[in-house]
Amino acid sequence: MDHFNYQNGELHCEDVPLARISEDVGTPAYVYSTATLLHHYDAVAKAFAEVRPIICYSIKSCANLSICRLLRERGAGFDVVSGGELYRALAADGDPANIVFAGVGKTDAEIHQAIDARIGWFNIESEAELENLIAIARLRGASVNAALRVNPDVDPKTHRYTSTGKKESKFGVDLERARRVFNDYGRQDAVRLTGIHLHIGSPVNSVEPYVSAITKTLGLIDALRGDGFAIDTLDIGGGFGAHYKASEAPPAVRYAEAIVPLLRGRGLKIILEPGRSIAANAGILLTRVLYLKKSGERDFLIVDAGMNDLIRPALYEAYHFIWPVAPAAGFVPAQRGEGVSMPGLRLMDVVGPVCESGDFLAKDRMLPPMQRGDLVAVFTAGAYGMVMASHYNTRPNPPEILVDGNQYRVVRRRETYEDLLAAERE
Ligand code: LLP
Repeated sequence: MDHFNYQNGELHCEDVPLARISEDVGTPAYVYSTATLLHHYDAVAKAFAEVRPIICYSIKSCANLSICRLLRERGAGFDVVSGGELYRALAADGDPANIVFAGVGKTDAEIHQAIDARIGWFNIESEAELENLIAIARLRGASVNAALRVNPDVDPKTHRYTSTGKKESKFGVDLERARRVFNDYGRQDAVRLTGIHLHIGSPVNSVEPYVSAITKTLGLIDALRGDGFAIDTLDIGGGFGAHYKASEAPPAVRYAEAIVPLLRGRGLKIILEPGRSIAANAGILLTRVLYLKKSGERDFLIVDAGMNDLIRPALYEAYHFIWPVAPAAGFVPAQRGEGVSMPGLRLMDVVGPVCESGDFLAKDRMLPPMQRGDLVAVFTAGAYGMVMASHYNTRPNPPEILVDGNQYRVVRRRETYEDLLAAERE
């Protein structure tokens, strides 16, 4: 479900034709749908309502301040992983009590910043980090809440770069070690260690890894409670899927059907950290065809967005459905995703202007005929799109546009060359 649809042969975001946005702000540009963002947030909230979760939207997935504010107004807290994200969460009027701070490498400055802000929980990734947090909290006479991130050793069956719950990952500590951490550090007041955190990977397109990870973790919680520790919070992280290739992601309600029964009656405050499942297909990258080129037997569609704008294909060989905004007659797709087939498609590579062979948005893709100047939509680009953009090749970052019904707002302007040099000037 999303709000990008072809109306009269032309792609719209909600009720706004994308061509109109491109006339206004140019290309490339990220375009987001308010209705889709809210729909996905509400779906998670409704599906998990029985366990009254705190939904800490994972800022790293799509960080625009206006989008954070939108979700905050809907009730979201925030999952942050850096001082910058914490700053952003507070700028979006995030309630500090509903902010969780994860990450294996929190600096002292970030820890001070988070104590100052009175965030809800520190998600602890190692003994060394915990010792440092205890030392800083003592120094300041502060008392903070923490959850220990555990690594339940399940295989989320996702890309190796985004798989985090296996034993050999850099995140969290394994379940046996977790008991030792509580025994060694769980009885002091500077850091109240009363929660368990897990995040097994992203995207996880099936419920089984969650069931297995949570079941193992509940076993740990029982053991810890048996040891006399008052565990009151379980943060199950993010990782719910999104539709890239077809309708491959289970809806929020499927995850909840499997997870909620495990949590019922456990006396635990539940935290969720969804990012991708809220933002991914709420955004597209809008780009324009610059040139068509043939090299040997290959047809290239050269567009004005590159790996600096959307790195997922280059980094993870990620699949993003791509289609013209106003396809020639007869080429409006009945559905989107892998395997769209109709007579007259041609095999093409969609590449950007960056000077790297890895600069592609799609390889070996069947696409309708296109020509210079045509607008093209790269779908499901709302999560881990703009946030991973770089300035490689001294390319300014694209603008972000937030559509709501028949209105739209530029919620981040296109960068200028001046912006790019600003931090280098005396
Ligand atoms: N919580 C923690 C501790 C995480 O590490 C992550 C994502 C999330 C929550 C949110 O996961 P989500 O619901 O968005 O799947 N750049 C990669 C994804 C990296 C995910 C990192 N951690 C990509 O483009 O696929």
